[in-house]
Amino acid sequence: MEEPVKLGHGQIDAQHADLYHCIRQLRAMARKHFSPERVADLLRQMEGMLANHFATEELVMFDVGLEASLLAEHVGEHRRILAEVAEIRRSHRAENAESLPEVCETARLWVVNHVRDYDALLIPCLRNKDVPAV
Ligand SMILES: [Fe+2]
Repeated sequence: MEEPVKLGHGQIDAQHADLYHCIRQLRAMARKHFSPERVADLLRQMEGMLANHFATEELVMFDVGLEASLLAEHVGEHRRILAEVAEIRRSHRAENAESLPEVCETARLWVVNHVRDYDALLIPCLRNKDVPAV
């Protein structure tokens, strides 16, 4: 798995690196047949990291004056991912060993695709702006 593209905002880039680390751990756990409970714990931890990260990003996007329609679309994508995480927990798919590879792949796509398709669009907004950590 490649490293996430750098957005040029220290706090967001550090959060992305932590999320990628979490995904690598999840995938390693699924490969090595860790207990589904441990995977579910890590997924719960990731859910908290995602919620925190999305809140940071939304404040930064607001601060840099991202166009309202882009901001709304990006925030909508954050909500969609968080709803999907909650659905996986509710359905206990993360606690079912059979569905672990699928859950890990879904989690990987949340992060990798989101950073590539949404967050990378923020690079021009962040460039040359001294956006403080939130
Ligand atoms: Fe985002």
